[in-house]
Amino acid sequence: MPVDLSIHYHCQDCRIHSRLLQRRAAALLRECRVADHGLSILLVDDQEISWLNEHYRHKSGPTNVLSFPFADGADTSLSLLPVKELGDIVISIDTALRESKEFKLSLHDRLTWLITHGLLHLLGYDHELSEADAILMQDKEQELLTRLQHSRSTAMTHLAINVDHIATIRQARGGVEPDPVAAAAICEMAGASGIVVHLREDRRHIIDRDIRLLRETVKTKLNLEMGANKEMIGIALDLKPDMVTLVPEKRQELTTEGGLDVLSQKKMLAKAIDKMRKAGIPVSLFVDPDTRQIKAAHEIGATFVEIHTGRYCDAADEKGRDQEFKIIATSAEEAYQMGLRVYAGHGLNYQTTARIAALDTIEELSIGHAIIARAAFSGLDRAVRDMLAIIQEANRIG
Ligand code: PXP
Repeated sequence: MPVDLSIHYHCQDCRIHSRLLQRRAAALLRECRVADHGLSILLVDDQEISWLNEHYRHKSGPTNVLSFPFADGADTSLSLLPVKELGDIVISIDTALRESKEFKLSLHDRLTWLITHGLLHLLGYDHELSEADAILMQDKEQELLTRLQHSRSTAMTHLAINVDHIATIRQARGGVEPDPVAAAAICEMAGASGIVVHLREDRRHIIDRDIRLLRETVKTKLNLEMGANKEMIGIALDLKPDMVTLVPEKRQELTTEGGLDVLSQKKMLAKAIDKMRKAGIPVSLFVDPDTRQIKAAHEIGATFVEIHTGRYCDAADEKGRDQEFKIIATSAEEAYQMGLRVYAGHGLNYQTTARIAALDTIEELSIGHAIIARAAFSGLDRAVRDMLAIIQEANRIG
């Protein structure tokens, strides 16, 4: 559910970054596990909050924040309506500005504190009831603010690079160049947070020698993509990559065509995940943006899901792309709510990545073809940095 933010305030010497506040409020709703509820935030001046304070609380003068729960004191039939609303938080910018100076905080950090405080009131916390209640609320506030600092809404989306395509060029001549191991090092130096390689049963690009050397040389994170078959599970247990991504694998396909059908293979995949877990290797399942598949992935103990972005990238027109984007956004949110860590990838390029990177719930993108294709013209270092710049910008304004 969206966070509705309205500003009844004319700032002369301050700028309110409403999207930043909305993102932080949405992250707080997720942390409190009420992301399926609507929340309205109203930013006003001292005069307006004084009026509300007088009218509803019979207290004179301005205050920093007021909370109005949705059904508080109103017609009880409201609770029967098919809507999930937490209520309204009203904040005075004038008071927040004074307090930000007093506490030596940025205005937005003070506003974030006030949103947190107001939200906890809406959720039933009340520091005015007793000393114990005050401590409880203060502790919760602190916990939420600490978690927000480390939450995905503020951390940059990671970029992991799939270097299979370098190996494809090498295999075209059956020689030793270009080397995916060298490519991985260049990607890392350019700022990639991880390296992904798909060891296929037919060894059409990445070969066993590559994964052995990559295990020794990758400094960030080695993600071994593979089918969940006996041979590959044995290799993974031996190699101990930082994580594995299980994908469906067909010999005839040019590239991974769709997500895993987790539902129909729950038992087999659960066994594979269990073996990896015992060896300390977290598992990601590559799935279509489909609630049932994501739920199944969660049920069988996956740590991550990687959401397939192929249909979004391949959409024939903008309308279709918008529809696919919404499906991905909803699925990512659902996966996040279940406690899964969420990655996304397949087919992302320099045009389609920004929207996906702006989604708070997605931690990492896995991109290969577009970056390696651009590298042929601009060099690998440049191609990685250009993609990182897109992600960084999307994170800044998302
Ligand atoms: N994620 C998975 C699971 C994949 O199989 C691939 C393709 O190897 C990618 C991401 C990267 O896709 P692309 O090469 O289209 O960027």
